[in-house]
Amino acid sequence: MTEDNAVAIRNARPEDIDTVIRLDELGTGLAKPDYWHDIFAGYVRQPGAGRFFLIAEAAGAVVGFIVGETRIWEFGSPSCGWVFAVNVSPERREGGIGSHLLEAICERFRRSGVDTVRTMISRRDPLNLAFFRSQGLTAGPYIELERRLD
Ligand SMILES: CC(C)(COP(=O)(O)OP(=O)(O)OC[C@H]1O[C@@H](n2cnc3c(N)ncnc32)[C@H](O)[C@@H]1OP(=O)(O)O)[C@@H](O)C(=O)NCCC(=O)NCCS
Repeated sequence: MTEDNAVAIRNARPEDIDTVIRLDELGTGLAKPDYWHDIFAGYVRQPGAGRFFLIAEAAGAVVGFIVGETRIWEFGSPSCGWVFAVNVSPERREGGIGSHLLEAICERFRRSGVDTVRTMISRRDPLNLAFFRSQGLTAGPYIELERRLD
């Protein structure tokens, strides 16, 4: 566990699940218990290689989390680290916890042997865009394409 301004970063534990579900609901406005139970099964209870679920804790309370994994040859890409969820408790935002979580997972990615981190952000999500831009992430070499199936 590492300490920084009374915030510690540690691996998630099974008992964190209810807090994660609540924080995610606060951040996104949508409760997704089934999704988080699936994620905990594969990233916390029996984490596969290169999978990381980190918790930021202050004074014994969970104040944020980040989840990601290394992926190789997805879309033809060499190995890289993907962050697919990050969340800080609303009352603890803008205090450096998000940056701390991102740096902690990037360190784990580096130790896994990858040299690039990626994420995906909604065009309608200026908060996450501002956050990831502040951390040095810029537009990458891939674009997402989609169409409706109806
Ligand atoms: C994005 C988020 C993780 C940032 O966490 P945080 O702890 O507040 O981030 P930090 O304090 O480390 O901020 C780092 C930088 O991000 C940017 N940033 C953070 N909050 C911002 C805001 N409200 N407006 C504009 N920029 C902001 C700033 O550039 C900031 O750097 P600065 O402090 O030098 O200005 C947090 O706002 C959050 O949890 N948002 C909801 C996330 C969400 O919707 N998750 C679900 C989908 S993954």
